[in-house]
Amino acid sequence: MTDSSPGQNPTFKEWAEWKRSWRKNNQRTPRCQCPGHSHTYSQAPGLSPSGKTTDYAFEMAVSNIRYGAGVTKEVGMDLQNMGAKNVCLMTDKNLSQLPPVKTVMDSLVKNGINFKLYDSVRVEPTDRSFMEAVEFAKKGAFDAYVAVGGGSTMDTCKAANLYASSPHSDFLDYVNAPIGKGKPVTVPLRPLIAVPTTSGTGSETTGVAIFDYEHLKVKTGIASRAIKPTLGLIDPLHTLHMPERVVANSGFDVLCHALESYTALPYHMRSPCPSNPITRPAYQGSNPISDIWAVHALQIVAKYLKRAVRNPDDLEARSNMHLASAFAGIGFGNAGVHLCHGMSYPISGLVKKYKAKDYKVDHPLVPHGLSVVLTSPAVFTFTAQMSPERHLEMAEILGADTRTARIPDAGPILADTLRKFLFDLDVDDGLAAIGYSKADIPALVKGTLPQERVTKLAPRPQSEEDLSVLFEASMKLY
Ligand SMILES: NC(=O)c1ccc[n+]([C@@H]2O[C@H](COP(=O)([O-])OP(=O)(O)OC[C@H]3O[C@@H](n4cnc5c(N)ncnc54)[C@H](O)[C@@H]3O)[C@@H](O)[C@H]2O)c1
Ligand SMILES: [Zn+2]
Repeated sequence: MTDSSPGQNPTFKEWAEWKRSWRKNNQRTPRCQCPGHSHTYSQAPGLSPSGKTTDYAFEMAVSNIRYGAGVTKEVGMDLQNMGAKNVCLMTDKNLSQLPPVKTVMDSLVKNGINFKLYDSVRVEPTDRSFMEAVEFAKKGAFDAYVAVGGGSTMDTCKAANLYASSPHSDFLDYVNAPIGKGKPVTVPLRPLIAVPTTSGTGSETTGVAIFDYEHLKVKTGIASRAIKPTLGLIDPLHTLHMPERVVANSGFDVLCHALESYTALPYHMRSPCPSNPITRPAYQGSNPISDIWAVHALQIVAKYLKRAVRNPDDLEARSNMHLASAFAGIGFGNAGVHLCHGMSYPISGLVKKYKAKDYKVDHPLVPHGLSVVLTSPAVFTFTAQMSPERHLEMAEILGADTRTARIPDAGPILADTLRKFLFDLDVDDGLAAIGYSKADIPALVKGTLPQERVTKLAPRPQSEEDLSVLFEASMKLY
């Protein structure tokens, strides 16, 4: 092993040693040892591949969070403390019959809070279902909002709050470019308390609201720090009601949030550099603070997800997954996600007949977590060459033995580890098993192209041809 080369076919350990010594001898500026700078690729400082100036800063934005078994009963007092007099309570039809919503209502009544219930949230919302909720919010002239449910409910409530607070805006004004205009939010919003009942989206921590844009049959969203909830009440007791597949699929969302945010393009390689901080995107690229949340969330997924799926009474496992969802949310809410999410939006948007087990809805649906995880083995095989050490680290956390791993094997090792994980949790065997065939690939690629907000955060740029290959490789997993 010399200082000028890691050798012909180094193991990961040999390579890491060589890299450490190379860094020691070659770095000019004071060295930062933080994980955010451990990516293996380098570019001239401040210049992106296209010659535009790259960003030099990142910002962490997160909702206030309160965690505890039974903490939901405090919601009425919180609203009272805020001086709320006329509250909008949002949920979906299924949850409106279940204890989480009843607990919230009891607390509102007990504390004398006047509220109106909106229980027509669509599971996997659309622009139309967002607009229906917005109309309800506009008519109600509410001074605070409470969302009780999974990502579908929390996101719908964020949109209702935004457009009711900005009544003259067109719907597309705040929707991410290039589908919408991606205007910055400058209006003040009403307080929103989010009570998550799934363990997946982390939406209680993020300024993101996702919906299916029916006209294009792809998902897109609104992303602005201004729409993040004021407070997230994370109450693990709600997770005891979740059916098995909802636990599994929302857990896969946590898994992919962690994997994608940790392997995303570093924030200092993202361009353009904003001329005003208000235009710095919520999804900024991997950064040393998000990295910590991503790694920690993944460790919890590795330890508890299988237990949480298999045993509805395992409060320890389900509580930990509920926290992991928020941890990963803090990470990806600031770093962003990339290809699994970018490719998932047409996978769920173009759904044909697939009916997801345990989802009590009357329409075909590919649950979000399932739509992201099915491409994960192919995606990380593709991206591994840009930061093999990060990919191996993730594989190791998920249980792979990486001691004798070789650098070119980083992608396949992570992919195999993921496949095994998914097989153990009875995940459908790839896109073919949820109704897609080779003939659908052009439409799936077309639906991914407008998802630049996330696909550009992939560490490796991708052509249409690359996307086709990734979809094809995801048709069958095992
Ligand atoms: N805003 C963000 O940052 C973000 C991040 C990831 C995903 N999302 C979006 O969130 C949505 C998915 O949300 P989700 O996975 O949390 O699920 P969900 O809100 O779509 O709910 C899924 C199903 O589970 C049921 N359910 C939820 N909690 C339950 C409980 N405790 N007991 C019994 N049933 C329960 C619901 O009634 C529904 O039928 C997608 O639209 C996705 O795009 C948003
Ligand atoms: Zn997600």
